Amino acid sequence: MPLNREKLLEIAVDVVAEAARLARESHKTYEVSTKSTRNDLVTTVDIAIEGLITSRLHSKTGYPCMGEEGHSIDSFAGPVWVIDPIDGTMNYVMTHRDYAISLALCVDGIPIIGVVCDVTADTVYTAIEGQGAWCDGKQLSSVPENTSFREGILIADVKELEALPRLTQLVRESRGHRRYGSAALECIEVARQQAAAFVHLWVSPWDIAAAQLICQEAGVRVTRMDGTPLDTRYKGSILAAWPQAHSEMLQRLCIDPC
Ligand code: IPD
Ligand code: CA
Ligand code: CA
Ligand code: CA
Repeated sequence: MPLNREKLLEIAVDVVAEAARLARESHKTYEVSTKSTRNDLVTTVDIAIEGLITSRLHSKTGYPCMGEEGHSIDSFAGPVWVIDPIDGTMNYVMTHRDYAISLALCVDGIPIIGVVCDVTADTVYTAIEGQGAWCDGKQLSSVPENTSFREGILIADVKELEALPRLTQLVRESRGHRRYGSAALECIEVARQQAAAFVHLWVSPWDIAAAQLICQEAGVRVTRMDGTPLDTRYKGSILAAWPQAHSEMLQRLCIDPC
């Protein structure tokens, strides 16, 4: 019998809870290596969690899995699990907070189930396409439709601010600037109404697939930074913001054709 969406969400939540326990238990006993640069880290825990999640999901659903630390897929056709075993590995190693486990089920490249666990806060955000966004079983209320970016916090990295002087100007006009170091948790801050917008120049499918759905289900507008739709299958930029904040920011960021 094919698995329904509620059952798939239950499977996803269970495996993420198991992964979160592993992340907590392994906190002092891991090894760290670098990948492309000295600040691009991977730990033995990232690899162990990705292995745990893929083997559980494979045996329970049979769907292919794509993960940051090595699990690849032939194509995004049909159902595919997209896994970021630790989003915020630098935080896992350096600050021991603000890191997440992110798991999404995409069908033909579109996220239909999303689970993000803020491990140190012991909080789980979930969504099923069309059924709202949830935090620990309580539905998130919709984000404000008609509130300006000026009334909220903007989340962006120093790279975005350096590359986009217009964004720096928007930050000056806003309530302030924050950066936490986990793209998934940063994006969800917009759904939680803790921030009016999240901007990133370069997110990967595993960073954003689950958070994107959770945000959309709370009424957050999610696009690329030029306003085009965010296709989860490809790396690229993201502007996730409350609706009015989104149109204001888009207009100000793209005065010229962009
Ligand atoms: C990183 C974090 C970080 C973002 C990077 C991501 P990782 O994910 O989300 O906040 O700025 O672009 O790669 O490598 O810790 O899973
Ligand atoms: Ca990484
Ligand atoms: Ca990530
Ligand atoms: Ca990661």
